[in-house]
Amino acid sequence: MSFDGRELRSALGRFATGVCVITTVTDAGEAVGLTANSFTSVSLDPPLVLWSLQNNSDVYDVFVGPRFFAINILAREHESHSRQYAGKGQHQLDAAHYRPGKHGSPVILDALVSFECELETTHEGGDHLIIVGRVRNLHERPDGEPLLFFSGDYHKLHGATTI
Ligand SMILES: Cc1cc2nc3c(=O)[nH]c(=O)nc-3n(C[C@H](O)[C@H](O)[C@H](O)COP(=O)(O)O)c2cc1C
Repeated sequence: MSFDGRELRSALGRFATGVCVITTVTDAGEAVGLTANSFTSVSLDPPLVLWSLQNNSDVYDVFVGPRFFAINILAREHESHSRQYAGKGQHQLDAAHYRPGKHGSPVILDALVSFECELETTHEGGDHLIIVGRVRNLHERPDGEPLLFFSGDYHKLHGATTI
């Protein structure tokens, strides 16, 4: 390989993304959330989406087990949510940040969109597990702008390229 891990991480970070908090409920009934930007749409019919989870996450078992989870796309004012749920072992959801969705998974208040998903399948993907969900319900906020992540930092939209 002509590059090392640091160079790869830096190069991948040049792909601008939104930021999500993936949420679920543990067997013990605890609401948890993890910041992720690996969200991708997969299929419209059937409605499938995916995200990938680090194999060495402290909460790997928490996210691999449950039948339902939610993918919450953060709005620009949610940078503190993103930072909070990206902390090592910091995944217990603040009660003020969510309400229970139709299928039980926590839905983050004022997220741009929340996809309530049923676990469809998983695939091994190197040091991550690819988690595919079937969208069972969605909540879309009619307004708001996204929180963006680019080159290791948070950004906001500066407007469309066409006027
Ligand atoms: C912007 C951003 C995007 C992230 N995306 C992912 C992701 O897609 N998958 C993942 O497993 N962790 C992702 N992380 C890392 C987790 O949020 C969190 O830092 C990590 O899981 C902490 O370790 P723990 O899971 O062992 O507690 C991301 C972190 C940030 C700040």
